[in-house]
Amino acid sequence: MRIGIIGAMYEEIAPVINDAENRTRKDIGIRTYHSGSLCGKDAVIAFSGWGKVASASTAATLIVHYEVDAILLFGVAGAASPNLNVGDIIIARELIQHDLDPSPIFPKYQVPLLGISRFETDAHLRDSAIKAAEKFVSSDISKSIAADNLARCHITKPAVYQGLIASGDQFISDPAVLAKLCGDFTDLKCVEMEGASVAQVCCEHKIPLAVIRVISDKADQSAHENFSFFVSNVINHYSQEIIHNFLTLI
Ligand code: ADE
Repeated sequence: MRIGIIGAMYEEIAPVINDAENRTRKDIGIRTYHSGSLCGKDAVIAFSGWGKVASASTAATLIVHYEVDAILLFGVAGAASPNLNVGDIIIARELIQHDLDPSPIFPKYQVPLLGISRFETDAHLRDSAIKAAEKFVSSDISKSIAADNLARCHITKPAVYQGLIASGDQFISDPAVLAKLCGDFTDLKCVEMEGASVAQVCCEHKIPLAVIRVISDKADQSAHENFSFFVSNVINHYSQEIIHNFLTLI
């Protein structure tokens, strides 16, 4: 089995690039694809850059050029529910493009041709993603993440949830914008900028997908500061352990 692993930013996947054995790299377009063996699995790892087009292009290259059998998208997200805290983990059950509006010709949020608004992740991979995340949160995370970084992010005991993720080409930091999204999607867990576009490409090619998101901010006025701190200091510890757990399970 060959798995494609995508992160929007280098920081989100750096540890697994470094851990890959017999690693080779190839540049295609503006992106670098790292191939190697991770936990006994054949893996191709790339960071896409932010946004739906960048991530869709990366997914298409992994599928068409590298013929991957499955894709894992890993990275950070903004919380869309007051019950969620920085450090919590969301496993996508469904993904929607919140900025797609072809109405009145097609229903709002529906992808023309496919006739789908909500893309589902693969049930088997999702199950493995949940187990991988639960194993991480039940371990002693203070062994890998410095105490002052945990304190700065107010992380005590992270929790794992599954549900709806909304993606759009917009970093959400305005509570009014977030409130509108939560009103439109009452089951929304978090917002990010890549998941639903990768899900559309995977759907078009019938490639199973898992999406794991770690809450870096609350999509509010402090989102940019909290996001930057989390990406620079914390996400690498989550990615290293959770992606390893995931690959061992699939
Ligand atoms: N990824 C992480 N935080 C985000 C936010 N607040 N909006 C969009 N994408 C994000």
